Amino acid sequence: MSETTRAGDPGRTLRAVQISSLGTYVPPRVLTNSQLEQMVDTSDEWILKRTGIRERHIADDDVATSDLAVEAARSALAGAGVTAADIGFLVVGTTTPDTFFPSTACLVQDRIGATRAWGFDLGAACSGFTYSVTTAMQMVASGAHDHALAIGADVMSRIIDYQDRTTCVIFGDGAGAVVVSPAADPELRILDFAHEVDGSGGPALRMPAGGSRLPASHDTVDQRLHYVHQDGAAVFKFAVRKTSEICHRILDRNGLRAADVDLFVSHQANRRIIKAAAGQLRLPEEKVVINIDRFGNTTGATIPLALADALADKRLKKGDLVLLASVGAGFTVGAMLVRWAY
Ligand code: COA
Repeated sequence: MSETTRAGDPGRTLRAVQISSLGTYVPPRVLTNSQLEQMVDTSDEWILKRTGIRERHIADDDVATSDLAVEAARSALAGAGVTAADIGFLVVGTTTPDTFFPSTACLVQDRIGATRAWGFDLGAACSGFTYSVTTAMQMVASGAHDHALAIGADVMSRIIDYQDRTTCVIFGDGAGAVVVSPAADPELRILDFAHEVDGSGGPALRMPAGGSRLPASHDTVDQRLHYVHQDGAAVFKFAVRKTSEICHRILDRNGLRAADVDLFVSHQANRRIIKAAAGQLRLPEEKVVINIDRFGNTTGATIPLALADALADKRLKKGDLVLLASVGAGFTVGAMLVRWAY
């Protein structure tokens, strides 16, 4: 039976799906708080206290999102023991694609040699990773494909105004990828996902120009409209409230309590947001992964970068119940429950 026929079969039973491996990549160049002090009116003390960030990685001028994504994807493939040709579907959650078209997914497909894969870019800002994993999971659960690649990758430094101290201290560049496959052990799988959007929050976090609403012009460049503009306080409040709300929802409907969670891996937007949300969930510090100090907010890459650190530190182990959460521009909101498979 061809893959097309299988994918279209409405009676097909859903399969349990696992995350088989994780790969990450950050560009080597580091931008420290003290370097930012030379660029804008800020201080290491302010940045650390208000955001938890010490440094972030920044791509060189000739490096784009697909370059980071390819490195992360290759590492994930090696970890899963599958070849690029085994991948049937790939999705790249990104806010900073190399170009509007072709999509970054097409560029990655070609570069890694995923000759049998189709795919696309997914625009969910800081929820890019959770939304991408969910999308890839559906492709495997439905039986359409046996292996799929979900990538979160961003070169935020390309759309950050390094004259605006309220945004330039926050963001960094990076990529993360996971291979999702049918679960070898049905207990060790992605258990559930919960996603929402609240489009009324759009004005709070956006890049005003460059799209069909306000195409690039001398004016848009002069007005610095091709950069991230945000109402930091509005985003902060929404992120704290929604992170805990969606986590409670996904736990409740699975008959679980916060005490059952082994590891909470939230999008890394601000250490205070993560701590406040974890506090509302009554999660003790040792169950909360925070690595924003080293990477800043890498948008689609924060959750895989945090998972990679937890794996390296052996804080994340086979069988652990992991709660993922994200809030991003849109607003987009996401949570996933994963019984870690390796
Ligand atoms: N260095 C020094 N001072 C700064 C500064 C910086 N980098 N950025 C802002 N300030 C100043 C402000 O101008 C303000 O000064 P004022 O009181 O004289 O007007 C003061 O610090 C307080 O600003 P405020 O915006 O209230 O600070 P904050 O504690 O809310 O922190 C953010 C600002 C942006 C760090 C915080 O709101 C935040 O993290 N929001 C969420 C952003 C986010 O996560 N975005 C991505 C979502 S996925």
